[in-house]
This record gives sequence, C-alpha cells and structure tokens, in this order.
Amino acid sequence: MFDIIKQLQDLAAELAETLEEGDRQYRTVGDGGPVIDWWFVIDRNASYYAVYALMQEPVESGEELPDMPVPCGRIEFRDVSFGYDGKRPVLSHISLVIEPGQKVGFVGPTGTGKSTLAHLLLRFYDPTEGTILVDGVDISRYNRASVRRQIALVQQDVFLFSDSVRRNIAFGDFDGSGEAIRRAAESADAWTFIRHLPQQIDTPVGERGVKLSGGQRQRISLARAFLKDAPILVLDEATSALDNLTEDQVQKEMDRLGKGRTALVIAHRLGTVLNADRIVVLEGGKIRETGSPQALLAQSGIFRRLWEKENRKRAKKEGVESCSL
Ligand SMILES: Nc1ncnc2c1ncn2[C@@H]1O[C@H](COP(=O)(O)OP(=O)(O)OP(=O)(O)O)[C@@H](O)[C@H]1O
Ligand SMILES: [Mg+2]
Repeated sequence: MFDIIKQLQDLAAELAETLEEGDRQYRTVGDGGPVIDWWFVIDRNASYYAVYALMQEPVESGEELPDMPVPCGRIEFRDVSFGYDGKRPVLSHISLVIEPGQKVGFVGPTGTGKSTLAHLLLRFYDPTEGTILVDGVDISRYNRASVRRQIALVQQDVFLFSDSVRRNIAFGDFDGSGEAIRRAAESADAWTFIRHLPQQIDTPVGERGVKLSGGQRQRISLARAFLKDAPILVLDEATSALDNLTEDQVQKEMDRLGKGRTALVIAHRLGTVLNADRIVVLEGGKIRETGSPQALLAQSGIFRRLWEKENRKRAKKEGVESCSL
C-alpha cells in the first residue's frame, strides 16, 4: 500500500510539471501486484494536487481501438460467462437481448452477479466467455473509455471525492457549463438541498466539507447521470439505506432519468421495477426467470416469492415508523 502511495506521489509531482490546469491523464502503476488505473486531474486552485482514483480495474489495454459511436441502445449478452478469479464462475451462460428504449429490471439475491453484469457492459471487466454487443457490434472492439461515455452508471455505492458539490456532479466533465450542472441538479431534485448548503453548489463535501446523507449522495449520483445524458443507463440501486419516503422520491427521479433511454435497473426494492418492460431474475449467476412483471407475479416462482417477502418487510417497517411511542 505504501509503495502505491509513494508511486502516486511521484506521479502527481511529475504530472504537475507537465500538465496544465484541468488536464487529465490516465496512468497505470503497479509492480508485480495488482495493476491500478488512476485518473489525475491537476487543479491549481486546490491547495493540493487533486488525484481522483476512478476505479480499481485491470490494465486498460486496447486504447488504440476505435471509439464506440453514439448507439441506438440495443444490448445483447450472448452466452456470457465470467469469473473474477478465472475459476469460480460468477455469471454462467447469460443470453439476453434488450431493445433500444426498453427498461429491464434485474433482481435476485445478494451476491448473485447483478452488479457484475453491469460492470461487464461498462467494460470494467471483459467476459471470460461469450460476447456483449451494442447495436450488433461486440463492445470489445471499442476502446473502454468510449464505451463508458455512452453509458451513465448510477452506482450502488456512491463515490464522492473531497471536492465541491459542483465538481462531484461534473465528475470528470469539467467542461460542463454551470448552467448544465445546475439543470442536472434540478432534474435529480438535488437543488432543493444544495441551495441550503453553506456555499451552495461550491460547498465542499466529504472529509473537508459537509457530510451528505444517503439520499443526498444518491441525488448527486443521479445528477451526474442527468448531466452525462447518455443513451444507455445503468442504475444499480442502493435504496436499502434510505427510508421509505426518500426511497419513493429518489424513485421518481430515477424513472424520469430512464425516459427515452435503454435502462438496466438493478433493483433491491422490487417496486422499482414493476413498471419495467421486462424482469430478469438472476440466481447463482444464471438467469432463472424472465418475463413481464405481471407475468412473473402471476406464476409462483422466485420473483413472486421475493415480492411477497418484500411486502411483509415493508409492512413491518411501516408499522415501526408509524409507531408514536
Ligand atoms: N471485484 C471483485 N473481485 C472478486 N470477487 C468479486 C468482486 N466483485 C464481486 N465479487 C464477487 O462476485 C459475486 C457477485 O457479486 P456482485 O457484486 O455482482 O453481486 P450482486 O448481485 O450485485 O449483489 P448485491 O445484491 O449484494 O449488490 C459475489 O460472490 C462477490 O463476492
Ligand atoms: Mg450489487
């Protein structure tokens, strides 16, 4: 760990000499151990060299590949299998077609591979077997950065870095105009709390600034996605941390965000995907059920069982919340 920090410090110093303000550069460090990609942003206004670690991921190879053009948004998983360690499969033989503009809900028990499936689409990893196609073209034929430009990801764990709300929303798109950032914040209903912060949108968050609640973090993440305005949207919900009222409100923004895009919604609360065109139930890394929400509720399968369990839980939670003792 200390090695990596030392290497990062050296690289930051080196980059500071060669880059202009706002320049970005991907660098890879690692010496025999895991290889980590870091994204450096040199910001001379900050009292430090801002080093934003975007994601721990394997080496980016194939940067010379062409850019993915703006897609219509047809997605196909063609017999996709994947394991992190190359041995134990996390996903097995996933075959699935999502038409442009469709909303597909992914549900299933924890650890069953839902987020992993989304990460494969974003090329954080590539399938061990099989192919993922967007608009009929294998995405491994495009460079990773360009694939990610076409997909907005609202992550399960919202990653905020120690900087202003504005920069957290822009998240790499530092060219986004003030007006565009504000509009995105309004669309995500983030503006209602941002305007009450000590320095509004320029308030620092995280270690050096205000602490934001789970719902506020989610809204910043949604605002990022509104700003990105990509044709494909992946929502990996983390609504379990939110109370029922906040869940319902965040839900509205999520629905609005999904309009007119191909949306993959990983749902921990099944109510979120009852209006989806299709539900895919994953269990043990395999597709166990697929169909419209109504069709799956009408049969006594996994989805119906999960739905009944959730209703019982919600009723219990509401009972506790309405208790006035
Ligand atoms: N980076 C990683 N390296 C190794 N194993 C991983 C990694 N990420 C996830 N896993 C493992 O892969 C499996 C699937 O994880 P994944 O996060 O895709 O599940 P999930 O369906 O999204 O679960 P949840 O509902 O809890 O979010 C789990 O066994 C998990 O421990
Ligand atoms: Mg997950």
